[in-house]
Amino acid sequence: MFEPLTIGELARRTGVATSALRFYEEQGLIQSVRTPAGHRRFARPVIRRVAFIVFAQRVGMSLQEIRTELARLPENRVPNQEDWARLSRTWKARIDERIAELERLKDGLTGCIGCGCLSIERCRFANPHDRAGKLGPGPRFWMGRTQESES
Ligand code: FES
Repeated sequence: MFEPLTIGELARRTGVATSALRFYEEQGLIQSVRTPAGHRRFARPVIRRVAFIVFAQRVGMSLQEIRTELARLPENRVPNQEDWARLSRTWKARIDERIAELERLKDGLTGCIGCGCLSIERCRFANPHDRAGKLGPGPRFWMGRTQESES
C-alpha cells in the first residue's frame, strides 16, 4: 500500500499548483483525507484523476463535463483499467473532434478561413464575395462550416 501524498507531493508529481488542487477538491473532482492536524493527504491514484482533469480541460471539456465523467468511476475502490477504458470511450469522439479542429486551424494558417476579410489570394476562389458570411459570423471554414456542410 502506498503512503498517502501531501498536497505538496501531489503538486510536484502532477505539475499542478496546490491552489488548483485545492480548487479541484472544492469542486468535488478529487478527494483527500485530513490528518488530526487538519492537513490533506491524497491516495496515490488521485494522481491519475488530476492528469485526467488537466488533459480533459486541454481538449475543451468544462469542469461540469469533467465532473460528470469522473462520477462514472467507482468511489468505493481504486478505478482499474476497465473503468478508465469505459471513460475513454466517450472521450475518443471529443479528441477526434479536437484533432479535426486543430487540422483545420493548421490548414487555415495559409489558406482562406472564410472570415470575410477577402484579403488573401485564395479568398477569391474559396470565398468569392464572402459567401461564407451567409453561414453566419466568424471564420466559417475554421469552424468547420462550409457551404457544403450546411446544405
Ligand atoms: S481569409 Fe478571410 S475571407 Fe479568406
